[in-house]
Amino acid sequence: MGHAIEVVDLTKQFNGLTAVDHIDLQVHEGEIFGFLGPNGAGKTTTIRMLTGVIKPTGGTARIFGYDIQKEPLRAKQLMGISPEMANAYVDLSAWQNLIFVGELYGVGKQQRERTAEQMLRHFDLYERRHQKVKSFSRGMMQRVIVAMSLMSLPRMLFLDEPTSGLDVESSRTIHNLVRRFSREGKTVFLTTHNIEEANQLCDRVAIINKGEIAAIDTPERLKRTIRGSQSVEVSFDRYVDIENELGLAGIQRIERRGDKLRLYTEVPGKVACELADYAKKAGLDIVTINTLGPSLEDVFLELTREAERK
Ligand SMILES: Nc1ncnc2c1ncn2[C@@H]1O[C@H](COP(=O)(O)OP(=O)(O)O)[C@@H](O)[C@H]1O
Ligand SMILES: [Mg+2]
Repeated sequence: MGHAIEVVDLTKQFNGLTAVDHIDLQVHEGEIFGFLGPNGAGKTTTIRMLTGVIKPTGGTARIFGYDIQKEPLRAKQLMGISPEMANAYVDLSAWQNLIFVGELYGVGKQQRERTAEQMLRHFDLYERRHQKVKSFSRGMMQRVIVAMSLMSLPRMLFLDEPTSGLDVESSRTIHNLVRRFSREGKTVFLTTHNIEEANQLCDRVAIINKGEIAAIDTPERLKRTIRGSQSVEVSFDRYVDIENELGLAGIQRIERRGDKLRLYTEVPGKVACELADYAKKAGLDIVTINTLGPSLEDVFLELTREAERK
């Protein structure tokens, strides 16, 4: 099977600022590929080059073998795009927006109506399909935009921060759509700054920072690349100044996360037992306790810290 996306040495400079710095990557057909990085990392710039919106300063990108610069029409026919902070036509209804996009792509009447109905049902918007989009919440609007990107029946989808700032329900329906699309053997390239989204959704993840790719792998293999970041997460029934009270051996550092404490250690089992002893002696109740392997966030922090040191 060929590559859905093949990027070689892709670079973009804006007046001396290198937004994307000589990146290479391949995305396999049928894969959900995540482009994970903080704000300003170069995610949108990359997606805009891959979809032929802006020209690279250097390097090449191929979509199913078609060079996006040399054969832009062929490449673009295969893709659906949901740009960052896109808008639907606010004076049209959800239905009209979808049908309009279908017409734009030359999809036949029956097919576009069938797809529009499917999409609206999937996104829980069918009952409201005749309302103008301007009355929609941000989450509903975003669902319409993702639905629009599918009207041309593309072979691959580009989604730029599809769930950024959305409510849980809207994010969930978008994630489900992405999974369903992928199960049909189609390819998804999505950007996110949400580590948990990348972890939950993506087959492989590229971590991008300051225009450079720091790592590309499956979420689980990325987690295995860092040692020593096992931890125990615990919450007590009341506030404990644990940093000072607890004299536990084998703890590398302690972080507070909301009402939970995370204790990083190489011996999580031992620390969990010691925490139980401590709670008993101090008359505390343990509300939750979990031992955790390294998270994608740990990998992300490690890689971005490494880049800072360079
Ligand atoms: N049209 C542009 N002109 C000048 N600088 C830009 C332009 N687009 C993006 N940049 C800069 O390129 C860098 C990467 O931006 P972007 O790709 O939007 O990052 P991300 O999507 O990861 O948040 C940022 O420093 C941004 O300010
Ligand atoms: Mg962006």
